[in-house]
Amino acid sequence: MAAQIVKRASLNRSTISEWIKSLLTGLNTGPRQGPSFQSENVINDVDKLTAAKPLKRHYSSGTRTCTLIPGDGIGPEISAAVQKIFQAANVPIDWEVVDVTPVRGPDGLFNIPQAAIDSVNKNKIGLKGPLMTPVGKGHRSLNLALRKEFNLYANVRPCRSLEGYQTLYDNVDVVTIRENTEGEYSGIEHEIVDGVVQSIKLITEEASRRVAEYAFTYAKDNGRQKVTAVHKANIMRMSDGLFLRCCRDAAEAHPDIKFEEKYLDTVCLNMVQDPNKYDVLVMPNLYGDILSDMCAGLVGGLGLTPSGNMGLNGALFESVHGTAPDIAGKDLANPTALLLSAVMMLRHMELTSHADKIERAAFDTIKEGQYRTGDLGGKAKCSEFTNEICKKIEASS
Ligand SMILES: NC(=O)c1ccc[n+]([C@@H]2O[C@H](COP(=O)([O-])OP(=O)(O)OC[C@H]3O[C@@H](n4cnc5c(N)ncnc54)[C@H](O)[C@@H]3O)[C@@H](O)[C@H]2O)c1
Repeated sequence: MAAQIVKRASLNRSTISEWIKSLLTGLNTGPRQGPSFQSENVINDVDKLTAAKPLKRHYSSGTRTCTLIPGDGIGPEISAAVQKIFQAANVPIDWEVVDVTPVRGPDGLFNIPQAAIDSVNKNKIGLKGPLMTPVGKGHRSLNLALRKEFNLYANVRPCRSLEGYQTLYDNVDVVTIRENTEGEYSGIEHEIVDGVVQSIKLITEEASRRVAEYAFTYAKDNGRQKVTAVHKANIMRMSDGLFLRCCRDAAEAHPDIKFEEKYLDTVCLNMVQDPNKYDVLVMPNLYGDILSDMCAGLVGGLGLTPSGNMGLNGALFESVHGTAPDIAGKDLANPTALLLSAVMMLRHMELTSHADKIERAAFDTIKEGQYRTGDLGGKAKCSEFTNEICKKIEASS
């Protein structure tokens, strides 16, 4: 089986697609299916996964339209803050605001409304606030649904220490790049017999190559020196082994960027001892989920951490914190994570001078300390923090 997987991974795209489908269909007829077995979704996704090439960026110099998904809880407040700051900076963007409140489909499950899907497909770029995942039967994670719908294959999270905001670590500057479509989060689980469940970690050459190539291209485009592949190929020889081989191949194609391979446990140990050891880290889905939150913790938490989801059909930038229901509607939320996600979006759109100006104003406001929100130990309201950033932008224009 091991040789079979490695050998088949080098076949052409349609053969891979058919083979993964047959593998999953075979699993479907296994001894017993548990209630959480979801291979149907994965089978549909295999076509998307193996069909398309990443989108090339072509931006005109005029005003561009971006989709805005304000989200739930504090989402509308922090989205309004970002819109106000963008207006102060004269960013040449029109927002197309869409609602992603799920609608019930013919299968009884709740899905993203078609208008929201059409907007992202048309604009190819969007900013997203946090979404509540209702707990209960019939609801899927909307975040997961968006990721699958737009094949957002790489999650990018830059974690940088903020000047003037003291944490346990100074000068952290790392970027985690997480494979976003498969691995441990493929959703293939079933019960073999009572009391024995199985979860499948699916790794494909196509998705691994795509994210590895993205990591090196990101490093090059952003003046980074080194890419570290994070893995456990000593234990998961086939799955992580394939991921690692794809990273090695990408490294060979980018000799100007240094490359190293590290075990996940070693990276965790080193990261809390000396985060400066690392630059850009690329890894499979679950490792990325955990390690990226750990890195966010080094620089002051999720309220300050932006992220971008790069896809085949577009890119979606989002704050990584949740809807903060405890402070929603009270003008207490910190909009920094969403604002820095929007700054990442501007850089992706090559609106660099607008991005720099907004980022500088936000960092200066945090550094000065007078208008920090409660989560950063201050007393300012979201609106006061926002107004101060706008004032700084207007003063610098
Ligand atoms: N990306 C997303 O859309 C996303 C991510 C995580 C959680 N969620 C959803 O959010 C809901 C609430 O989740 P949770 O309570 O576990 O996590 P949370 O991130 O919403 O809140 C955790 C704590 O952090 C605070 N906090 C979070 N963001 C803040 C901000 N910008 N400014 C100030 N304080 C902030 C909250 O007040 C709360 O005390 C759940 O429905 C969950 O599914 C969505």
